[in-house]
Amino acid sequence: MHQSKIAGIGLYVPKNVYTNDDLSRFMDTNDAWIQERTGIKERRFADRNEETTTTMGIEAAKIAIERAGITAKDVDFIVFATLSPDYYFPGCGVLLQREMGMGEIGALDIRNQCSGFVYALSVADQFVKTGMYKNVLVVGSEKHSFAMDFETRSRNVSVIFGDGAGAVVLQPTDEPGKGILSTHLHSDGADAEILAMYYPGSHANKWLKDKPAYPEQELGGLFMTNEILESGAALPYMDGPAVFKKAVVKFPEVIKEALAANNLTEKDIDMLVPHQANLRISQYVQQLLGLKDDQVFNNIQKYGNTTAASVPIALCEAWEAGKIKDGDLVCLAAFGSGFTWASALIRW
Ligand code: ACO
Repeated sequence: MHQSKIAGIGLYVPKNVYTNDDLSRFMDTNDAWIQERTGIKERRFADRNEETTTTMGIEAAKIAIERAGITAKDVDFIVFATLSPDYYFPGCGVLLQREMGMGEIGALDIRNQCSGFVYALSVADQFVKTGMYKNVLVVGSEKHSFAMDFETRSRNVSVIFGDGAGAVVLQPTDEPGKGILSTHLHSDGADAEILAMYYPGSHANKWLKDKPAYPEQELGGLFMTNEILESGAALPYMDGPAVFKKAVVKFPEVIKEALAANNLTEKDIDMLVPHQANLRISQYVQQLLGLKDDQVFNNIQKYGNTTAASVPIALCEAWEAGKIKDGDLVCLAAFGSGFTWASALIRW
């Protein structure tokens, strides 16, 4: 049984920068409120027409593939994590396969929101460990801007999220103690509806039956009336304080679980790369774990929360900045809608 290692990593963020002041042109918000609550100063929004979740994923993938010393033709499996796919179906994995001219390899989309990338990494890790695949491309990419409501009623959500993509290539390694040491995946659906987008979905009646404009009829059917749009059911919903409370418990829990599984402690962590949910959450988790500033990497200030893309973007930036070196112990951790949460411990 091999271990898998990250052989190449890349990121892509769109060039359009929107500062907090820019957002205050569209809704009743301000720089002080956003920075104080979330730490975010600016975010990137993809080109409305030219860029999609897939195209951004491809840009990140190209860099990861090149850095892994392979070509797109060598990739033998794709795992693509996103909550904002180009289409309701099919997934982004097959679109990436087509656009990158890869062979008829397997492609799998992961729908686990903020923890999507760590879940995707864990899935890819299993394939490499068993020897089934040798070059697995793992992508996390999001274009949130297409589905956000930039009006005051949605300001608690729309100021938080940004667009971008990150990717890694996993390959087998025989170097003892190197690569992905372990991954840890969890879920609890008890609070599934407090961070969610309800429509379109097969349970739409539950959310829309009381809306006067939702047509009563024998058979189902998909309706996108102005009233449904107005109801907010087709927009992301978040009970922010409830998410905060759960996140600051589950982040430390899943990080400690990974350390314990490898007989390591917080002191052994060279770099914690948490999902960039909110700078206050990351700082709270850092404090609870007793980690020093140079043991944690955050870049939410520049990009906002890019859900499934946030971990690979942050990991790539930390590595490019020389903050992750050969032999370092890197911990990835994420928490998000579902709720789902996950961690991965990597010897770089
Ligand atoms: N600008 C100005 N005022 C705002 C904004 C805004 N963008 N958004 C909300 N407000 C106002 C509200 O209307 C409310 O005003 P009121 O008291 O007059 O009614 C006030 O600010 C407080 O609103 P809350 O929703 O209670 O705001 P809170 O202080 O909880 O902060 C936040 C909201 C930042 C979302 C916070 O709850 C939080 O950090 N939650 C964690 C959730 C999170 O980080 N989610 C990220 C995505 S999920 C994930 O990645 C895991």
